Amino acid sequence: MFFLKERLAEIAKLIKKGDRVADIGTDHAYLPIFLRQQEISPAVLACDIRALPLKSAMKNVSESGVTGIGFRLCDGLSGVEKSEVDTVVIAGMGGECIAGILARSWAENSKKRFLLQPMNSPEELRRYLCERYTLISETAVIDGRPYTIMEVLAEKCPIEDKEKFIYCGKLNPEKREDKEFLSKQYARLKKCADSIKSVPKEADKYEEYYAAARCIENFLR
Ligand SMILES: C[S@@+](CC[C@H](N)C(=O)[O-])C[C@H]1O[C@@H](n2cnc3c(N)ncnc32)[C@H](O)[C@@H]1O
Repeated sequence: MFFLKERLAEIAKLIKKGDRVADIGTDHAYLPIFLRQQEISPAVLACDIRALPLKSAMKNVSESGVTGIGFRLCDGLSGVEKSEVDTVVIAGMGGECIAGILARSWAENSKKRFLLQPMNSPEELRRYLCERYTLISETAVIDGRPYTIMEVLAEKCPIEDKEKFIYCGKLNPEKREDKEFLSKQYARLKKCADSIKSVPKEADKYEEYYAAARCIENFLR
């Protein structure tokens, strides 16, 4: 039996039984192997932009003995047809990198489900999503450190409070893991603000970081 660590296990939990999945940036293919082993997905595409990780994905899949996993060497979704998948997972990359993958793809207005797990700059990913996608839910998980996972529908939805959306997403400060994630984001943005506080040419950037940190601080109160 194959087990996933907390971060990938949480993503796996969010995949609906019967959904065909594309795992973009699969690397080791742990998620595709788990989804097939548990018979959660009938078919999974393990995709990576680099040949070496894809080779390691193929080796792990072959050693696991599972079937139903296809491999694509491609940038983001460029090697995946819209009709081949129900849910797309993009995990373990930076927030801006994930936004770039979405921007270069057929994702917008596709009405497909996306599970996005940025390793950094979640605000840059939400900034991209807010004009084009619907953030259905967001949850943090602790796996050594806190990570956030966004469940997104590729369908436009108006947002009332854009600043709160960008910096706090749909996290719930009453949930321990979400609170821990938000507190870390607050500390990071506050540190960025403090580091340029007395640099006159960075005044605009300082205001931006400071406002972002204050937004999270208010949400946590
Ligand atoms: C840190 S690993 C994440 C592995 C796995 N998704 C996880 O969350 O544990 C990031 C992987 O994404 C791949 N990658 C980076 N940019 C990509 C892109 N534009 N399209 C597809 N794969 C990409 C890298 O080659 C690498 O194998």
